[in-house]
Amino acid sequence: MTIGNNVLRSEYQRSVANYWNTNQNDPVNLKLGEIDGYYHHHYGIGEVDWSVLEGPESTRDDRIIREMHRLEHAQAVYLLDHLGDVQPGDRVMDGGSGRGGTSIMAHERFGCQVDGVTISEYQVGFANDQAAKRGLTDKVKFHFKNMLDTGFETGAMRSIWTNETTMYVDLFKLYAELARLLKDGGRYVCITGCYNDITGGRSRAVSEIDAKYICNIHPRSHYFKALAANDLVPISVVDLTAATIPYWELRTKSSVATGVEDPFLRAYKEGSFHYLLIVADRIVR
Ligand SMILES: C[S@@+](CC[C@H](N)C(=O)[O-])C[C@H]1O[C@@H](n2cnc3c(N)ncnc32)[C@H](O)[C@@H]1O
Repeated sequence: MTIGNNVLRSEYQRSVANYWNTNQNDPVNLKLGEIDGYYHHHYGIGEVDWSVLEGPESTRDDRIIREMHRLEHAQAVYLLDHLGDVQPGDRVMDGGSGRGGTSIMAHERFGCQVDGVTISEYQVGFANDQAAKRGLTDKVKFHFKNMLDTGFETGAMRSIWTNETTMYVDLFKLYAELARLLKDGGRYVCITGCYNDITGGRSRAVSEIDAKYICNIHPRSHYFKALAANDLVPISVVDLTAATIPYWELRTKSSVATGVEDPFLRAYKEGSFHYLLIVADRIVR
């Protein structure tokens, strides 16, 4: 088996990195980010303004895409609302930082230093270019690093978030590393899809999502076991499932629909899958 380098430590991680390196022109991410320069690789929350479907046919798709971007941006704002009392002198980490949109927003909001880590070298370059365009290279840095083993100093981070990235990793390994990186009393925020222990094992719709993204969606229970095992104590859990369904319904009507809309909507509506926000604090060592 080829191990490769210190960042990509398994064939699985190599295939995930390859997925993100080769989806460079995926319109569902690029077209939305081009609207205002905040590039996200996550989904949206909030009520849809359905009036975007009305009006001239020639600009209908453009209106839908703007509305989808508004909702994905609102998701990142909501995540950052839970990051705690972050000060300009603090350092925070974005685990699985994608094209960097949420990291740039975090710096703009808190004035803090942000380190984003991703296993896609293409994304590191893209996100660092975005930081450079804004003159933020000394404050917002993106690194080709594995969030399971970042190499950053112990206790360096005031807050850490993972936005739709935990389904690519072992949660116990991840939370061991995040607990190491967080200061005493530091804050962790996660937004993720997880499957419902109550409905049994992984549903067909959840399996279809896994296959599309080469990921391994965890059951809800695993999050709380892995947090508790690593001195991370939940303070808030919000079920965002109802808040994300409108985004998916709008997306089915857009030119950037990929086909994954159907399993997401089935999974959410049948109750086999949730979209959760989890907020936890690092207990004092
Ligand atoms: C769905 S994208 C989310 C991107 C970003 N959080 C956002 O909200 O736009 C998943 C991200 O997880 C990253 N990722 C997957 N496994 C990783 C790992 N072991 N270490 C660091 N990043 C990882 C991928 O490279 C990709 O950037």
